[in-house]
Amino acid sequence: MASHHPIWITVVIVFVTALGWGSASAQLSTNFYSKSCPNGLSTVKSVVQSAVSKERRMGASLLRLFFHDCFVNGCDGSILLDDTSSFQGEKTAGPNSNSVRGYNVIDQIKSKVESACPGVISCADIVAIAARDSVVLLGGPSWEVKLGRRDARTASFSLANSGALPPPTSTLSNLTSLFQAQGLSTRDMVALSGSHTIGQARCTSFRPHIYNDSNIDSAFRKTRQGQCPFGSGDNNPAPLDLRSPTAFDNAYFKNLLSNKGLLRSDQELFNGGSTDSLVKTYSNNPKTFNSDFASAMIKMGDIKPLTGSQGEIRKICSKVN
Ligand code: HEM
Ligand SMILES: *[C@@H]1O[C@H](CO)[C@@H](O)[C@H](O)[C@H]1NC(C)=O
Ligand SMILES: *[C@@H]1O[C@H](CO)[C@@H](O)[C@H](O)[C@H]1NC(C)=O
Repeated sequence: MASHHPIWITVVIVFVTALGWGSASAQLSTNFYSKSCPNGLSTVKSVVQSAVSKERRMGASLLRLFFHDCFVNGCDGSILLDDTSSFQGEKTAGPNSNSVRGYNVIDQIKSKVESACPGVISCADIVAIAARDSVVLLGGPSWEVKLGRRDARTASFSLANSGALPPPTSTLSNLTSLFQAQGLSTRDMVALSGSHTIGQARCTSFRPHIYNDSNIDSAFRKTRQGQCPFGSGDNNPAPLDLRSPTAFDNAYFKNLLSNKGLLRSDQELFNGGSTDSLVKTYSNNPKTFNSDFASAMIKMGDIKPLTGSQGEIRKICSKVN
């Protein structure tokens, strides 16, 4: 049959097939480094492991680093860049300044990975792998990380400040629309918010909720006000999950059911609105939460990666080559 096709059809088929391959090679894949750096992933894991065993919170910080990278112009490692004479970077932008942690761990991972496989594994991918490894080390689900992201040659202070990263005062509709703008559903948003089952927030982030909102447990409000006065103590930390602050579990959602969310944006997920039922589901079914969380992390990792010949593979994560 095929031999009776006119020649032009054969030509079209060949071109379409080649285009298909072209775009497929521009996609991320879980085995991207399996030939070029077979020990790369275990090198990342060993550094994350030692950082988290020194300080459990570092697992939370590395998870958040990935979120703040991906939501500002895609998962391209731009958050890691220090300011230069040609751009002001993202580290000093409002949502990151005095708040995002873990840059030094990423730099350590990179230097180990570079000595094993120079110029192969991008900083953007290291952040994605470190986030997964952190979740696993703290008792959460695992997933296969899609890889092949390349590193941005620039970063944007103004984009990081432009409201793509949700502030803790966000309403449910604010959260839904900010995640939707990144191609993430409301279900993804609720699952990813379950990240707040680990880590800490500063008083300045939770003060509006503990002083101004009525949807908060009164004993919990008093306790948190004790370490977060109205006019001082902006940097005083409190755990995002009061039950099990260093375990990746579904306790975050159980807290919400008893009005013990720390941030306004947390309690918004269980405040008489459309996401109440999902919060209940996650609080009763840790397996459903874990599997939705893993899928949502993979989706978040797909936000606007640089691939193919775009960007570069940085030698040092805080500097362009
Ligand atoms: C849904 C919207 C979200 C809002 C409004 C939000 C807001 C915040 C705020 C205000 C803090 C505390 C920062 C500080 O006071 O220094 C925080 C911490 C944290 N966030 Fe979120 N976040 C959101 C979603 C996410 C997502 C999607 C992830 C990860 C996938 C994440 C992971 C974390 C982690 C792990 C911490 C603790 C970090 C540490 O202890 O170093 N958050 N978040
Ligand atoms: C949230 O949405 C309201 C109403 O659309 C808007 O006025 C407000 O600026 C938004 N807030 C944030 C933090 O995005
Ligand atoms: C509480 O709300 C008032 C009125 O909107 C505002 O002026 C004040 O700054 C808020 N306080 C906190 C701690 O957010």
